[in-house]
Amino acid sequence: MAHGDPLPPHVLIFPLPLQGPVNNMFKLAELLCLAGVNITFLVTDHIHRRLSRYANIHSRFRRYPGFKIATIADGLPADHPRDGNQFIEIFDSLKSPETKAVLRDVLCGDGGKQGPLTCVIADGILGFAFDVANDVGIPVISTRTVSPACLWIFFCLPKLIQSQEIPFPGNDLDELIKNVPGTETFLRRRDLPGFCRSGDISDPNVKLYETEGQINSRARGLILNTFEELDGSILSQIRTLCPNLYPIGPLHAHLKTKLLAGETAATASPPASSSLWQEDRSCIGWLDNQPLRSVIYVSFGSIATLTKEQLMEFWYGLVNSGQKFLWVIRRDSVAGKDWKSQAPTELTQGTQERGYIVGWAPQEEVLAHLAVGGFLTHNGWNSTLESVYEGVPMICWPYFLDQQVNSRFVEAVYRLGLDMKDTCDRVTIERIVRELMEMRKDEFLQEAKKMGELAKRSILEGGSSYTSFERLVSDIKTWSSRSLRCDN
Ligand code: UDX
Repeated sequence: MAHGDPLPPHVLIFPLPLQGPVNNMFKLAELLCLAGVNITFLVTDHIHRRLSRYANIHSRFRRYPGFKIATIADGLPADHPRDGNQFIEIFDSLKSPETKAVLRDVLCGDGGKQGPLTCVIADGILGFAFDVANDVGIPVISTRTVSPACLWIFFCLPKLIQSQEIPFPGNDLDELIKNVPGTETFLRRRDLPGFCRSGDISDPNVKLYETEGQINSRARGLILNTFEELDGSILSQIRTLCPNLYPIGPLHAHLKTKLLAGETAATASPPASSSLWQEDRSCIGWLDNQPLRSVIYVSFGSIATLTKEQLMEFWYGLVNSGQKFLWVIRRDSVAGKDWKSQAPTELTQGTQERGYIVGWAPQEEVLAHLAVGGFLTHNGWNSTLESVYEGVPMICWPYFLDQQVNSRFVEAVYRLGLDMKDTCDRVTIERIVRELMEMRKDEFLQEAKKMGELAKRSILEGGSSYTSFERLVSDIKTWSSRSLRCDN
């Protein structure tokens, strides 16, 4: 930069303190660094400790002089598990007056060598961050890491409650939903986010998401991790409420492609790992020795937990299907830790012959591996997009939140797999694995390949996500130059 040139825009990125959102926002941060934007990445102390232990974030971002990490306390006791089941507690604790004050100080500080903060990108659920940014006159852009389909349902929650579609009258979970425009022909009660089943509209989850539409309307735009060719119909619904959308996904691949294009020599290496667990790379060697498209990869993401009974049903179903399988069982994901030692011989033997179990896998690499022909997934949005991008068909076993919606979209809209939500017995699992990996294998692989190609095109020059990202950077630059900042 020549002497006297204005500083580049300086953006604060504030993700939700969970693996999926943090993963995602690191990717957005790196994309923006590549585009010449300075970044302060705000995470909780807890996330920061885990990142320092397992991920190579610090060394990765050392190559971007305009990047730094800042931390904020989440206010929870050290021994709090901070998993998906305690999501509301994390959220409530985060929006305390103390956090707001710290955030205000960060936003109003001089920003060091990166210069003053000129824009905030915050998870759309962190409404308090929008309040603070608006208060101090810094433009804010919302981002959501849940799927657009689920976000659209959140936007429709007030209408669903008003029309008394939720709480559900009666018990029929297959009844179609009428008040989510654009989905009337396929969205059933059972496909709504799980908390809609509680029968209680004072449920803190319902309250949290009911205000979502209002929060997003306070932002200048909304960044979504999807691409037009996949989610065009839902995006056009969301645009009726948030006209300025930036669909820039699949983010993981968008970043990888830009890095490989070697936009700067210093960055021509794979993206940072932001894993919160130690990856077991031995599974790649195991995959190398398996035939083409013969393995079903099984993983339920970073939050879902299984009961010991559910684990046994999946294990029997997988072994009985006769298919090869690579299964991620996180150490903290099974209730009752003695599952391995107590496993019946037929399971350990079947696994020795056809299976491989790890505690955490390099998932993107696994899904890109030619031996993988299917993915039994909880349909977290990242996992879903990673699978779409690699052209891998899915079996869907959602755990919570947007996953219930995503799984319906995978089967009924994208037509890339089979949804087995609300079932968990070995007979169904065996049948559905055989259906995806044997009986309808070619059909699903073909469809998945087509969508994977569209995904790949969307992030290349001139593609839909590529163009949206260019517009995002240009808008950030324009707004940053006009930002009012801390004048009150
Ligand atoms: C959470 C929510 O549950 C999900 O619904 C929401 O869309 C995002 O946040 P999570 O369980 O973290 O999801 O799942 P997902 O969004 O799929 O993210 C998991 C990430 O961990 C993926 O990027 C995946 O590649 C990675 N992963 C998973 C690994 O790297 N290794 C593994 O073994 C498993």
